[in-house]
Formats: sequence, C-alpha cells, structure tokens
Amino acid sequence: PAPDRTPLYEALVAAADYYRTMLRRHQQARRAADYLKGRGVSGTTARDYGLGFAPPGWRNLLEALGGGEQTRARLVEAGLLIERDDGGVHDRFRDRILFPIHDHRGRPIAFGGRILGDGEPKYLNSPETPVFHKGRELYGLYEARRALRRVDRLLVVEGYMDVIALAGAGVHHAVATLGTATTADHLDRAFRLTGEVVFCFDGDRAGREAAWRALENALPVLRDGRSVRFLFLPEGDDPDTLVRREGGEAFGARETDAEALEDYLLRRLIEDHDPESVAGRRALVAAARPLLARAHDAVLREQLVREIATRAGVGAEHLEPGEEGPAQPEA
Ligand code: CTP
Ligand code: MN
Ligand code: MN
Ligand code: MN
Ligand code: MN
Repeated sequence: PAPDRTPLYEALVAAADYYRTMLRRHQQARRAADYLKGRGVSGTTARDYGLGFAPPGWRNLLEALGGGEQTRARLVEAGLLIERDDGGVHDRFRDRILFPIHDHRGRPIAFGGRILGDGEPKYLNSPETPVFHKGRELYGLYEARRALRRVDRLLVVEGYMDVIALAGAGVHHAVATLGTATTADHLDRAFRLTGEVVFCFDGDRAGREAAWRALENALPVLRDGRSVRFLFLPEGDDPDTLVRREGGEAFGARETDAEALEDYLLRRLIEDHDPESVAGRRALVAAARPLLARAHDAVLREQLVREIATRAGVGAEHLEPGEEGPAQPEA
C-alpha cells in the first residue's frame, strides 16, 4: 500500500503557517518586510502567495511546532530540519524570505528561501522529498489557476521574484521553473491546464540557453491545440526588472508579440549557420535534422522541413528522419 503522507503534509502546512506568521510578527520581521517593500512587493501579493519569513537562529521551527519526536521526524522528512552527524537537528531555512511551493491542491510541499540582500547562496530550496520533485513542479501554478479562466495561457519564467513582481503588476498567469531546465514534466503539467505556453527567461546568456533547451524539450510534446512561444527580454532584464520599469500593460504587449516556436527555431538556425555558403547550408541541414527528429507532430514537422529545405536549398527528403543525409551514397 502507498504510504500515508498525511502527517508529512500536516507538518508542511504547520511550517508554512509558522513562517507566514513570522513575516508579520517576529521581532526582526521589519527587516524582511522592508526587503520586500524595497522590491516593490505589496502586502496583497505577499498574502496571495503566502510569503513567509524564516527568522535567524538554528532552532526556531521545531520549538514553535511543539518539539515532539514525531514532529521532528516529519520536519526532517519534509526537508525543513537538517539532521546532523551528532544526532541533533537544525533549521534549514534561517534569516530568509520564504516562498512556499504548492501542489495542485494548494498544499505546501516545499519552500524556496531568499537571503535578505547580498550573500550566498542567494536562494536555498527544499531538497527532494516524498512529496516534492523539483524537476516537476512549477512555482505559482496553483496561484495562477484562477487567472487561467481569463487568460488561457501560462507564462513560464525563471524565478520566484519574477512570478511575484508580475502578479503585482496584474500579470497573474506566470509560473517559474525553480532554477532547473524546463523538463517534459513541466510542459505536461502546463499543457494540462492551457493550450498556450510562453517562455520568458532572463535577458542574459543563461536565459537564452534556457530558451533553446526549452524549445528542444517542447518539440516532442507539441501537437494540435498546443502552442509554444518565446518572449525575449532586453539584455540585463528579467521579468521582475522589466515589469517594474515598464508596467503590466507594456509587458502584456510584449507577450502578445512573443515569437512562435517555429519562427524562433528557424531564425536561430539561420543565425548560426549562414545559408549563403555551401558549408553554411550543409551545417544548417546537420543542425536541423536532430531537431526535426524530435518534432513528433507530422504537421509541425512537415512545415519545418519545408521551410528549412527551402533555406538550405535541398530537397525535403534530405531532412526526413531515417534519411542519412545528402553526403551519403545511394544504396
Ligand atoms: N536559483 C536557485 N538557487 C540559486 C540561484 C537561483 O534556486 N542560488 C533559482 C531560483 O528559483 C531563482 C531562479 O533560479 O529565482 C532564477 O535565478 P536568478 O535569475 O539568478 O535569480 P532571480 O530570480 O532573478 O533572483 P533575484 O531577483 O531575487 O535576485
Ligand atoms: Mn500535484
Ligand atoms: Mn537568471
Ligand atoms: Mn533573474
Ligand atoms: Mn531577478
């Protein structure tokens, strides 16, 4: 039989309540509140997303939750207490703003914790636990559900604060991938709720690389009724800095203009492999083939094949999977 996870969920709910209360009541809560205010986070947004504060110190959570043996064991299992070699335990999250991650039923299953200001690590996350699998969850998905009834689209961003800042500006359909690459699991989860996903990663090298990886992972799951687009930000911006500078309406306009996956794929291939030369066209075909093999949807693949074949000046048969490529002799 599947293990009963109820006690684990109860411990996580109690912890989330405690951290939320600390953001309002702890003697040092002012520092946390000032930090959030300095980043433009309103009380309403903090409440909507259940933000909390893990106070400084090593033994806060267990004491606040009663200190019993069972509670201790559950908090260890939840990843909120760290068990030391000497048998003692201490708080994983100390002196950080906490972002609870909820599952599809709204239960807290993990936390991300940001340091107040500069320092390392900037973010600390819950470890993998029986109820939290990092490569699967999307931060803010539970909170975004209501918005999906009005805007049938999910915006996938990198960070906690991107989701929070967008929500503060009226863009309530953003979710974040928790610092990992976008996985097929993420996409499955998103496409269960909507037919359109817009990726909007940071305007830096890492963000552009994340976008390309997201494209590669999206190709196999695209089919009728599912579309993926990309919103590229100016160098140096992330959704948080951009929406705070330009506002939610301007962000919405950028989202409307987001680039379709097919256009991005073709643009990037041609930027990287100049079709003006024979060598460039050969490299274009070589780069396109593994991508096309990932596009399982026949309509999408055919469209891409036609466009790439035209640009590369070869027949479509040289781009079909199974075909060994133009350099191969006839059998
Ligand atoms: N991240 C993480 N651990 C880190 C750095 C980043 O888990 N040490 C994850 C977090 O989910 C973070 C996301 O990756 O939100 C994006 O990272 P980054 O762009 O560096 O941070 P921001 O979200 O922009 O953070 P902030 O605006 O608070 O500086
Ligand atoms: Mn779930
Ligand atoms: Mn980043
Ligand atoms: Mn960022
Ligand atoms: Mn940021």
